[in-house]
Amino acid sequence: MKITNFKDMYIAELQELVSMEGQLTDELSRMAAAASHPEETQVQRQRLESILQKHGANPRAHTDQTMQALVNETEMMLGMLKGNDLRDAGLIASAQKLEHYEIAAYGTVAALAGQLDLRDDQQMLHESLEEEKQADVRLTKLAKGEVNPDALAA
Ligand SMILES: [Fe+2]
Repeated sequence: MKITNFKDMYIAELQELVSMEGQLTDELSRMAAAASHPEETQVQRQRLESILQKHGANPRAHTDQTMQALVNETEMMLGMLKGNDLRDAGLIASAQKLEHYEIAAYGTVAALAGQLDLRDDQQMLHESLEEEKQADVRLTKLAKGEVNPDALAA
């Protein structure tokens, strides 16, 4: 498919992002409860689906390969880590990489929505962006305050 205008590029980016959130829902449900907020991911996915629906675009049109690769790397890494403390530290490290990818993606689509003057979209995407940033802050606190020191001492 050839994309020839800005709006369609925006839609394609949204389709990529909704695929990312979908894959994360699956992955996070398998991750430790401490590091994940699956309900938040669910809400973010619904926001994206409602935006795509409004624009008459298929939310299943795309599979994000980068997220697929990140999830595979996470599973490989966790498979290598021995002991709960090390696994917890590795889990947070991986979760933060996924989180940063999401932050980049939401920042991008929110900017595109702004350029298109789609203020409702932009608002919703900003909400998700802020949640992702907060999740990252939570993970940093958890890692630095507790999980990494424990793993280091183990
Ligand atoms: Fe998310």
